[in-house]
Order: sequence, then structure tokens, then C-alpha cells
Amino acid sequence: MTDDVLIVHGGTPLEGEIRVRGAKNLVPKAMVAALLGHEPSRLRNVPDIRDVKVVRGLLQLHGVTVRAGEEEGELVLDPTYVESANVADIDAHAGSSRIPILFCGPLLHRLGHAFIPGLGGCDIGGRPVDFHFDVLRQFGAVIEKHPQGTVLNAPQRLRGCKIELPYPSVGATEQVLLTAVLAEGVTELRNAAIEPEIVDLICVLQKMGAIISMGTDRTILITGVDRLGGYNHRAIPDRLEAASWACAALATQGDIYVRGARQLEMMTFLNTFRKVGGAFSVDDEGIRFWHPGGELKAIALETDVHPGFQTDWQQPLVVALTQASGLSIVHETVYESRLGFTSALNQMGAHIQLYRECLGGTPCRFGQRNFLHSAVVSGPSKLQGAELVIPDLRGGFSYLIAALAAQGTSQVHGIDLINRGYENFMDKLRALGAQIELPAA
Ligand code: EPU
Repeated sequence: MTDDVLIVHGGTPLEGEIRVRGAKNLVPKAMVAALLGHEPSRLRNVPDIRDVKVVRGLLQLHGVTVRAGEEEGELVLDPTYVESANVADIDAHAGSSRIPILFCGPLLHRLGHAFIPGLGGCDIGGRPVDFHFDVLRQFGAVIEKHPQGTVLNAPQRLRGCKIELPYPSVGATEQVLLTAVLAEGVTELRNAAIEPEIVDLICVLQKMGAIISMGTDRTILITGVDRLGGYNHRAIPDRLEAASWACAALATQGDIYVRGARQLEMMTFLNTFRKVGGAFSVDDEGIRFWHPGGELKAIALETDVHPGFQTDWQQPLVVALTQASGLSIVHETVYESRLGFTSALNQMGAHIQLYRECLGGTPCRFGQRNFLHSAVVSGPSKLQGAELVIPDLRGGFSYLIAALAAQGTSQVHGIDLINRGYENFMDKLRALGAQIELPAA
């Protein structure tokens, strides 16, 4: 498919301004939350990305009307007539995204049953959903797995419960929130994820009438209510996309103003960016990121759950680290297989060696389990253009950064995957002066 290949002529610093809108890892979940209400909801700052389209399609199959609002990037979601959807129609969405798993709680509350298709999402590890089904069972759901998907039933109203997650999973925390708000009684969730997108989802649910309080020790207390209304909410900006552009500025020796980026959710990234030698300045509308000249510095980096260094920032930053002087150490502790993308960087001239040991200060879950989850990046390396095949969303954007930082021309295959989480990325690249073209038809 020729339109799935991008030709990238590297060597030009990216300079100019782009805008990020609502977070990919919040917006689809806030759309699912609308299903819990008995009134229309308004979600603003919605990006035009594929995960939003997938969720929109699934909501519509269940009787939710979804239309554009008055403001650009506004969706109005009306769940007044929620109904069962045809299993074959739902199944057409199999493999498209991971968000359908979050329909479980809302559909059980609204209909008493749910069918969840096979999940998609990036291949960056096993990505099981055992925590999700374990917590749903604790609420009283009955779950049957079938070859095509999973059938869930709620023989009676779901009941609040005490839950302790084995790991602070983002998705499982969202599953608990979206289920507990309408369950009978109180739910106490321990070892919850507290990513900014989760806090924003809590804000959405509170606007709808939910009662949720956050403790200081990863504990969240949810008091179930009988009925929820709608919400009017502006999604928090995409801190993951913003960091990707920051790394693109650093790796290409460029200067990018990311309109919409916000300091509060990016503090950990900003500290690391500064340690590597990147410069930034924050104003009320966004953050400017640039390469101030001189050498970039090698660092030791460990990914972690929030407030640690987000795993989704790791891949773009590794590309910038190939340009830093000395040995950088990267320990990926969230996903067991999120460093595979580095083999293509090595083909381009980078020097990255992967290890099964935990090379960071803290031993993680993957140390004893034979996963290549630590990396040593030796730089600076001159990157050369190459033929690249995109492996996953963030890895894919990282390949674009590498191709733009490299000398010569690269052919990047599978670019459609990037549309899952980066809005209009080709227009944004062109606006920053990137020399990119689609192959002649
Ligand atoms: N895990 C389990 N069992 C479960 C759920 C998770 O073992 O039932 C494990 C995972 O295998 C992983 C770890 O727990 O090793 C963390 O997974 P988590 O549930 O936190 O991730 P997620 O909810 O599937 C979201 C984002 C990811 C982001 C992670 C971590 C969405 C749609 N996805 O995934 O975003 O990396 O949280 O912050 O919100 C991306 O944007 O490119 C992306 C992959």
C-alpha cells in the first residue's frame, strides 16, 4: 500500500509551532464515561485520532448519539437511549484498540450485560487484562470468555468492594472507577494508578455526580450513587504527544513551540529533558523546546508509573539519547518489550545494547523473567537514513524522529499506525519544515 509509506529526507532541524489537543489516554475514556449518564455530555479539546473514531463507533452501536458540538473539537454525546448492540457489529471492532475493555462496567450498569471484542493496542508486551476481569468479578459480574470475545452479565446490581491491584495499572484503575461510581455502596481501591489522565477522568465523573476521593497513598474511595447526569469538560492536553515533539526538537537540533502543552503534567519529563541538555521555556499557552547548542549529556533513566518517568516518553527520548555524549542507561519497568524498536535505530548507526538485567537502581518485575528490558545507549552517533517498519505507536513516532535527525533519506512503512494517537502528524511535520513526501502513486 503506497499511501502507508512516508519518505523522509533527514538533516533539517524542525522549527516552528504546532498544537496539541486533548490527551489520547483520556479522551476515549471520557467518551465511555458519557455512557454512564442519563443526560448528554460535552467533551471539548477532542483530537482527530483513530482511537476516538473507534470509541465513537462503539458508542453509536450502543445507541449513544455522537455529534460535533459548536466549538471546534467538541463532541456532544447523548446516552438517553442506550441499547444492546449486535455482537457481529461489535466484533467488527475487534483488534482496533484497548479501550473497548472499559465498556464493561458502564454496559453492565445500563443493560445488565456486555460483549467485549478481542482487544488491539500496541505490541509492547503481553498486555493481559486479568486485573480487569478480576475486579469486575469482585463487583459481582459473571464473565464468560468465548473465542471471539468476552460476554459479561450482572445478575443483580453491582456492589462496591475492597480491591487491591497487584500493580498500579492505568486501565484497571479506570475499570474500577467506571464501575464503582454506580455500584451499590463504597469501593476502596488500593495501589491505584494516579496518572494525570486518571485524575482528569475522576474530574469528569465528579461533574456527572460521582463521589470520589483520592488519598495520599494510591488509595481511591468511591461512594456509589444511583444516577449520574452529563458533563461539560475540556480534556487535559496530551503530555505524551507534547514530549514526542520536544524530543523531535532535541534530536534534530531544532526549536518547537508546543501550543497546549502544560508544565504541571510534564514536570518529570522536563527535569529529564533539562538533564540531557535540552532547553525549554513555559508560558501560559504552551512550552517551547529547543536544542541550545553544544553537547547533549548521557543520563540514567528508569520508566515508572506516575509521578515517575512515563513509559510513553521513553521511546522518543531514546532517539535523542543517541545524540548525547557518553553512555546512557535506560531501564523500562512498565512494559517488558518496549525496547525492541532500538534494533532499527542500530541499523541507522546508533549503538544500543539491550540487557535482560535491571540496569536501573531498582529491581523490577521483569529482572528475573528473561525480558530484554534495559538498554545502554552509547553516543553520539551519526544516524543514516534507512528502510524502517513501524512497530507500535510511540516506536513509530520515534522512527520518524530518527529519520528526520539522520543524514539521507528513509522510507518509513506503516505510518497509518501513527494516526491512532498523533493528530494530523504529517501536516504538523510539514509546518515544522520537515522534508517529507508520500511516494508517487
Ligand atoms: N497489566 C497486567 N494485567 C492487567 C493490566 C495491566 O499485567 O490486567 C500490566 C501490563 O501488562 C503492563 C502494566 O500492567 O505491564 C501497566 O499496564 P496499564 O494497565 O497501566 O496500561 P494500559 O492501561 O493498558 C495505558 C495507556 C498506555 C500507557 C500505559 C501506562 C491507554 C489507552 N493506554 O495502557 O499508553 O503506556 O497506560 O501509562 O491509556 C500509548 O499511549 O502509546 C500507550 C501504550
